[in-house]
Amino acid sequence: MQPVSPRVVELLNAALTLELTVINGYFLEARMLDNWGFGRLGKAFYDLSIDEMKDADTLISRILLFNGHPNLQKLGAVTVGEDAHEMLRLGMESEHSAVAQFNAAAQECHDLGDHGTAAVFEEMVRDEEQHVDWFESQLDAIERVGAQQYLAQQLDPARPSG
Ligand SMILES: [Fe+2]
Ligand SMILES: [Fe+2]
Repeated sequence: MQPVSPRVVELLNAALTLELTVINGYFLEARMLDNWGFGRLGKAFYDLSIDEMKDADTLISRILLFNGHPNLQKLGAVTVGEDAHEMLRLGMESEHSAVAQFNAAAQECHDLGDHGTAAVFEEMVRDEEQHVDWFESQLDAIERVGAQQYLAQQLDPARPSG
């Protein structure tokens, strides 16, 4: 089917770029955390990257519904923290950006009269808000117990062969 405006496909592709960018960042960070021995936190980042992959899947399907071309070539700057604490800070920033971008996209779709695509963005906003909340909780825990104590809880000594 045709979208109400080609702008809708542009908004979906912009969201796809954001998702592909964070998938890459979280996936690399997950493996870095595993490599440092922080297997529990690594698993959380891995699961986040899978969540974002599902978002990318939703966006690709919607672009194809409109006979558009999902752009899988384009990536934003992949930010990778140098340590676990920085990974959490950067993650929270990128989730805040996602919430802002998807809220704006939902509003623009409503203004164009495409309430279906707006609903897709709104659902995605709720997912990203959950991610913001998770990052906030981790950073709060670090504030409360200190980075060393927090990281001691992220070790995963039970998986020697990964
Ligand atoms: Fe996402
Ligand atoms: Fe997210």
